[in-house]
Amino acid sequence: MTIRLLAFSGSSRTGSLNRRLLGVAVAAARAAHAEVTELSITPNLLPLYDGDLEQATGLPAAVHELKAQFAAHDGFLIASPEYNGFFTPLLKNTLDWISRPLPGAPAPFAGKTAALFAASAGALGGIRGLPHLRLLLSNLGVIVAPGQMALGRADQAIGADARLTDAAQQTLLEKCIADHAALTRAIQGKNEGKNEGKGE
Ligand SMILES: Cc1cc2nc3c(=O)[nH]c(=O)nc-3n(C[C@H](O)[C@H](O)[C@H](O)COP(=O)(O)O)c2cc1C
Repeated sequence: MTIRLLAFSGSSRTGSLNRRLLGVAVAAARAAHAEVTELSITPNLLPLYDGDLEQATGLPAAVHELKAQFAAHDGFLIASPEYNGFFTPLLKNTLDWISRPLPGAPAPFAGKTAALFAASAGALGGIRGLPHLRLLLSNLGVIVAPGQMALGRADQAIGADARLTDAAQQTLLEKCIADHAALTRAIQGKNEGKNEGKGE
């Protein structure tokens, strides 16, 4: 069964270590026969969430598009920096907007899966931000894979060939990708079984 994954980063910075690590994850997922769409989230994509704005003008067009794009995928590959122990406000704002209800629209999060990554030039790789991201996604109904990767010294750890320079770390990343793919296939298989039962 082919799985469709949406890959995005919590940093849009030029030369972002997280975007580079995400690139390694995307290459590994494609090598494992997943269909991957790369989504670029930038600070000018959406305003800071504002309830008055939503009340006055509804959801921005970009939110409609993002909700449809999320709903059309089976799972997510996400890499985010750690900012003072949390994932980034860019990522939080984007997920908050997508979580707003839109009657009749397919669910963007429920029943989807996620694999989480973080990268930093520091020793811990931004690992302190991932539990918060895991919790937010769980609250939205996303099933987050237990395995994750926080890549320390990432400025020296990512090769130009979309692979990690250390073979053991590359193997760990590929295991995260394979475990997430297996989880996603299992959930999609279950959903298809359910739909068959309903005659859909
Ligand atoms: C506001 C702010 C807070 C940060 N806090 C942390 C931190 O708590 N732990 C850490 O490892 N790095 C921290 N950093 C450094 C980032 O992890 C580093 O800049 C990283 O390269 C950013 O990700 P990017 O390269 O994908 O843009 C912080 C950076 C910023 C701007």
